[in-house]
Amino acid sequence: MAPRFPSQWLDELRQRADIVQVISGYVTLKRNGHRYWGLCPFHGEKTASFSVDAERQLYYCFGCKAGGSVIQFIMDIERLDFQDAVKHLADQLHMPLPQMENDPDYERRRNQRDRLLAANREAAQFFHSTLFTESGQPMLDYFKRRGLTDNVIRKFGLGASPSGWDTLTRHLQSRGYSLEELRLCGLTVVKPAENGKPQRAYDMFRNRAIFPIIDQYGNVLAFGGRILGDGQPKYLNTSDTPVFNKRMGVYAANLLRKERHLERVVLVEGYMDVVSLTQFGVPGVCATLGTALTPEQARLLKRFAPKVYLGYDGDSAGQNAILRGLDILQAEDIPARVLDFPDKLDPDEFIRRDGIEGFNNLPAITPETYRMRRLREQHDLSTQEGRTEYAKACANVLKHLEPVELENHLQELTVQTGFTRDVLLAQIGATLPKAAAVTPAKREPLKRSPGPSAEDVRAEELLISLIGTGRLPGDIASEEDFTDPVLKTLYGDLIRGRSPASLVEEQQDEHLRARFSQLLMTPPSENTDQLIRMAQDCLNSMRRRRLEERIKTIMQSINALSGPDKITAMTEVQSLTAKLSRLKSAR
Ligand code: UTP
Ligand code: MN
Repeated sequence: MAPRFPSQWLDELRQRADIVQVISGYVTLKRNGHRYWGLCPFHGEKTASFSVDAERQLYYCFGCKAGGSVIQFIMDIERLDFQDAVKHLADQLHMPLPQMENDPDYERRRNQRDRLLAANREAAQFFHSTLFTESGQPMLDYFKRRGLTDNVIRKFGLGASPSGWDTLTRHLQSRGYSLEELRLCGLTVVKPAENGKPQRAYDMFRNRAIFPIIDQYGNVLAFGGRILGDGQPKYLNTSDTPVFNKRMGVYAANLLRKERHLERVVLVEGYMDVVSLTQFGVPGVCATLGTALTPEQARLLKRFAPKVYLGYDGDSAGQNAILRGLDILQAEDIPARVLDFPDKLDPDEFIRRDGIEGFNNLPAITPETYRMRRLREQHDLSTQEGRTEYAKACANVLKHLEPVELENHLQELTVQTGFTRDVLLAQIGATLPKAAAVTPAKREPLKRSPGPSAEDVRAEELLISLIGTGRLPGDIASEEDFTDPVLKTLYGDLIRGRSPASLVEEQQDEHLRARFSQLLMTPPSENTDQLIRMAQDCLNSMRRRRLEERIKTIMQSINALSGPDKITAMTEVQSLTAKLSRLKSAR
């Protein structure tokens, strides 16, 4: 379990971090009152719609609706998760992490992790510099034969492991790393003493071309080593270690992190494919590490770009991996496309043959088109049975699509199967109930239940942003004034003294987070009296509208009542009317 930071400590971190200063490290900000304005770093723009509120310690972009606290900003700009963003800020502010003060085991693990990462870093440097020595010549020749330039070799920190038994091990031991540490890193294989033979230690990677695996923070986690000729295994990879879990990361995450405004990530299968596509100028390429795509990797990719293109090999293994990859991406709600490489080529072979133009002209196929294409291969459409089974399978693929997207596929499917549009729609509908319940609800968490009018909600929102300034008297409003459930909760939290930044931060839903940031930024006025007057106006009109509504409802039902009920109702109308006129005269 990831440790939870105490909220008091987080408050202190947020205060010390000062959002304006932190963001200024990334964006040029111009001051205007409490607000600072600049060009949004999260979407390309020419006029400033990105604003930072020094008083509330929040930022919000009116263009792309990104918003949140200083921690959220670091998460987004540095592509870190919450834990790591907090650590990053704490580190910069020289604030000790709270759990380090009282958890000796955490300290020990952290020390070990630091040592192993340092050993890996030294190993990567060793491999890279070996590439340019005599013993690295065969690997350098290999890279050159595969068309790599010095530039791209340096960019990826490619290297060479010498052919000796323990060259790297001895080098790292001389730098102070223990055999146990090198074993934990997966750099050294240790054979214990047995049958009178002494313990032996030798290098894991010998005589291979080396691809260091570096994470988005620049840590060297592991290595992949390619054999120079035809032997087995073709690629030798570091197994999981205390610092490396191949299911969690992707190859070239360090380079992805540096690319801004990526429209899509291109996910390929091989190290060489990443290096080669990058050399040809394709942005945002990365690879899984010799496994099928995992949900963790999918979520990582989502932090780098809004879409994922699967560019797996054109062979049958690659094609099956695409189907599984699409399942994972779809389950994580990540828009995906498939790049279908022709002639069973892998991306490296393809781009060498057809160049960057060829690559850019490859159609980006939607998951549904891709799945239907694969189903098409599995069914014999010359028989009625084949067409029926094919239609059923396609209906299942298409059921979650929006009507307009569906339309294109329907036309194709009617032609292929001979079933009419209506029949196909009925078939799709028959598979529907499950899908319909999840998708729309997930996509539009902001849809409000019928109840408060738009006008009410606007007034309540304004009131929240006024209260968010912390400059209104605490008793000016009450929870009953709010009809929108989200705003009601937010109000309660604010008057209990929670800071706007912490409330925004803990909001998991990104739409709500954006809405909160926008609401809690300081409203235009700086004058407290004026803020109070605005809040009173807001409350007055909200309360007045509610009284009028209530009176109207009672009056509509009053004729149907008789006896004591009617008298109660009339008394209530009287008292409501009195309240209403008091409200009106208060203005
Ligand atoms: P490929 O066999 O498609 O290799 O494996 P490739 O990337 O085209 O390599 P080149 O072009 O022959 O050099 C794709 C990926 O699968 C993993 C590696 O991550 C590799 O990049 N793999 C493959 C292994 O881990 N071990 C192997 O023995 C083979
Ligand atoms: Mn290849």
